Amino acid sequence: MLGNFTYCNPTKLYFGKNALEGLNEQLPKYGKNVLLVYGGGSIKKNGIYDAVMKVLKENGKTVYEDAGVMPNPTTEKMKEGIERARAAKADLILAVGGGSVIDYAKGVSVSVHCKEDFWEKYYLRMEDPDCEIVPVGAVLTMVGTGSEMNGGSVITNHAQKLKIGKVFGEEVFPKFAILDPEYTFTLPKYQMVAGFFDILCHIHEQYFSGTDDNTSDYVMEGLMRSLIHSADIAVKDPKNYEARSNIMWTATWALNTFVAMGKTTDWEVHMIGQAVGAYTDATHGMTLAAVTPAYMRHILPYGVKKIARYAVNVWGVDPSGKSEEETAKEGLAALEKWMRAIGLVMDLKTLGVTEDMIPGIADSTYIMQGGYKILTKEEVIEILKESM
Ligand code: NZQ
Ligand code: ZN
Repeated sequence: MLGNFTYCNPTKLYFGKNALEGLNEQLPKYGKNVLLVYGGGSIKKNGIYDAVMKVLKENGKTVYEDAGVMPNPTTEKMKEGIERARAAKADLILAVGGGSVIDYAKGVSVSVHCKEDFWEKYYLRMEDPDCEIVPVGAVLTMVGTGSEMNGGSVITNHAQKLKIGKVFGEEVFPKFAILDPEYTFTLPKYQMVAGFFDILCHIHEQYFSGTDDNTSDYVMEGLMRSLIHSADIAVKDPKNYEARSNIMWTATWALNTFVAMGKTTDWEVHMIGQAVGAYTDATHGMTLAAVTPAYMRHILPYGVKKIARYAVNVWGVDPSGKSEEETAKEGLAALEKWMRAIGLVMDLKTLGVTEDMIPGIADSTYIMQGGYKILTKEEVIEILKESM
């Protein structure tokens, strides 16, 4: 049965070719000072920086820059960004990049006027902001996280060996997001497919939980089928607009809070993946890929009914004459085959994990309560070892 919920998603999206024109509608709503946040420089090579700057200048903005946001943004970089935003007296933070840049911009937006330590308040104590929040807008260049239309902000503290995702409320969601599928064409294949798996994993995390009849599960089956279909095309033909635009839209729906309404969710694979990330700084989607097969095998006895349904409705497994367990196993085999075919990293060693890190990674893994099996620390260790 659907649980009770209140639903609101305040992010205004501009989607498609020339979506950047939406900036002209948005920029006049904010003051003069814009903090332009971006990553390691891909936007300078592919022309997105110039295109965004042009619109900012045409709208009479004074632009301050905060470059160098790394994949898996750190607390150290956050301190720098907060100082820059304060010095600029930023009226708007414009994040141009992938999930890392947008997550970081959200973290900065709630910290500029905050007197407490942002890491302790938001990421360790999981409190909500009680200060003025600087509005954030996003120009998305990498598809996967859904950060363009949610309140997630994942930050890494290397000193504490923790990578933590704070889920902020709708006051922190980007006010607007520009989604032009062509902006993703320059992504290296490694990042592209990591993003594809991040999307699938977000859907898994919300699908593999609960035993009720829930509209969201049907929606998610459709999203997964579309993703798998389009990913197969995009891997062969990365500039295929139809496939890339469908994937961009699927990524947004996979994690813009909609499909989680009124249902329980898991998120354990993300918790293990984030702990791996805290130790290795590996690409987010790849950390999820490396642990997913072992995790799924581990929960199969507890969630066999749902995994069998997934096998049939998502992977097209024919269930006739088979037990639920056989059908479910066939579905997981199909998943693994597809993962290998699109070029995902399937083991933790390749991501830099060594045997001696495993106890620490297990200690950094948060145990969630909504999956088909609530894991013990020992089980997390088993899954990590199996994923090596
Ligand atoms: O830094 P630049 O030079 O821009 O290069 C980036 C980066 O190296 C590159 N890139 C992005 N767009 C490009 C491009 N290269 C060429 N052409 C383009 N158009 O791609 C690399 C990866 O970018 P990043 O932003 O790190 O990737 P992603 O979008 O996967 O974000 C990952 C971060 O988001 C967090 C992850 O944990 C990780 O820290 N997540 C955020 C979530 C949320 N907000 O809800 C949920 C997710 O589960 C995830 O945890
Ligand atoms: Zn993710």
